[in-house]
Amino acid sequence: MNHKKRLIVANWKMKLSNRESINLAEEIVDRFAGMYLNERNIEMIICPSHISLAEVGKIVDRSPIKLGVQNIFYHNTGSYTGQISPAVAHELGAEYAIIGHSEFRKYGKDTNEDVHQKIKAALDNELVPIVCVGETFDEYHDKKTEVIIIDQVTKALEDIKLKENQRIVIAYEPVWVIGSGQAIRHNIVEYIIQIIIHTTIDLDQSFADKFQVIYGGSVDEKNINDFIIGNILTGVIVGNNSLKVDSFMKIVQNIKL
Ligand code: 13P
Repeated sequence: MNHKKRLIVANWKMKLSNRESINLAEEIVDRFAGMYLNERNIEMIICPSHISLAEVGKIVDRSPIKLGVQNIFYHNTGSYTGQISPAVAHELGAEYAIIGHSEFRKYGKDTNEDVHQKIKAALDNELVPIVCVGETFDEYHDKKTEVIIIDQVTKALEDIKLKENQRIVIAYEPVWVIGSGQAIRHNIVEYIIQIIIHTTIDLDQSFADKFQVIYGGSVDEKNINDFIIGNILTGVIVGNNSLKVDSFMKIVQNIKL
C-alpha cells in the first residue's frame, strides 16, 4: 500500500533573483492550482534562496504548496553573523529544511557533525529535515559509494530520537550526477536506497515509519517514474528542471500513482 506521500522538492539553489523567485512562485501557485496535489497524494515543497524565503513564503501560503529552507544553522539565536536561524525560517513559514546538500558540504564546509547538529535543530523547530547524502565522482569510481553512504547516514542520525509527530526525509543525491543532465540508472539507485533504509532502521527500529527516502540528480519529465518506487523511493528533489514552470509541471503531471 502506498501510504507515504510523494515528495516533489524544488531546490532553486542560488539561481534566481528575488524578482524571478517571486514571479516563478506566483506562476507555480497559479498553474498548479488545478493539479489536485493533495488528492494525488503529492506534497510539493519549494526551497527558494534564503533572501527570498519570506516573499515566496507569502505566495505559497495561499496554496497547498509547502515552503522549505535550503540550509539552517544549529542555533536559533546569537552572535552568528551570516547564519540562518531555524526558528526564523519556521517563523517565515518553512516546514522543511534541506540539510547537508553536497553544495553546502563543499562551499559551506558542513561536516557530518554539523549535519547531525542541524538535524536536531530542525526537529526542535518543527522543520522536517531533508538530509542529503551522496558520493562524489572519485568515490564512485573508487567503489566507495556504500561506505560513504553508510557513514553519512549513521553520523547524521545516530542518537536522534523522533517524537510521535516528527519525521525525516533522506535524499540520495550522487554528487557527480547533479546538474549533469544524465540521471543514474534506477537499479543502482534502488540498490543504494536499500542500503539507506537498512542503515536507518539498524540505527533505530522506530525510524521505520518515520522516514522516507527520495532521489535527486538530473530528474526530468522522462525519468521521473524511475525514481518513484512504491514505498521504497517516495519522491525527488529537482534542481534545474524546477526553474522552468513547464518542465516542472510535466514532471508532476507524469507521475504515475
Ligand atoms: P539537478 O536536478 O539540477 O541535477 O539538481 C539536483 C539537486 O542538487 C537537487 O538538490
